[in-house]
Amino acid sequence: MEIIKGRRAVRNFLDKEIAGKDLEVILEAGIWAPSGSNIQPWEFILVDDPVLVKKIKLVSPGLYGLPRALIVLCVNRKRCEKGGKLGENMAVMDVSMAAQNMMLMAYSLGIGSCPIVSFNKLALKQLLDIPEHVEPLLIISLGYPTEWPQPPSRRPLEEVVHVNGYGEPFKR
Ligand SMILES: Cc1cc2nc3c(=O)[nH]c(=O)nc-3n(C[C@H](O)[C@H](O)[C@H](O)COP(=O)(O)O)c2cc1C
Repeated sequence: MEIIKGRRAVRNFLDKEIAGKDLEVILEAGIWAPSGSNIQPWEFILVDDPVLVKKIKLVSPGLYGLPRALIVLCVNRKRCEKGGKLGENMAVMDVSMAAQNMMLMAYSLGIGSCPIVSFNKLALKQLLDIPEHVEPLLIISLGYPTEWPQPPSRRPLEEVVHVNGYGEPFKR
């Protein structure tokens, strides 16, 4: 629970390198996420070249600060086909689960992260030579934080949880 609650969307980073081994562990956390029918429709693109990071920042309005590395989480549409008509929807869920695994692993290593959906897909595909059938869904920025932000509030369980039917209150 400490790791789940302590992770924050980090948008200010120190100019400090992330060890290759740590990046590997973060990526590995991604492939151990669950996926519908175990299709594993994801492709992850690690960007650790500072010049490329800056170029991607230029086409990503939602990317704040100057992270040391990025992971671009993509869906391989060819792999999705195995999931039938649920395939495309499942793939979004699969990639999201991989993303959360990576961000929690990063936090457990003291590394800050931020999920980013606000980026120019076409420009990103060009910058990273991403083929037609592979779609980037989410960028995760990574870096040591200048500070850990205060947690934004959460809707309470009483408001979010319904018991045995919608509208039936949850009591602690
Ligand atoms: C699907 C998704 C997309 C997001 N896109 C962006 C983004 O483009 N830029 C950004 O700075 N933060 C983005 N965030 C981060 C959220 O703003 C952040 O998670 C939320 O405010 C809660 O803060 P916390 O993660 O520190 O708990 C995104 C989060 C999610 C889950």
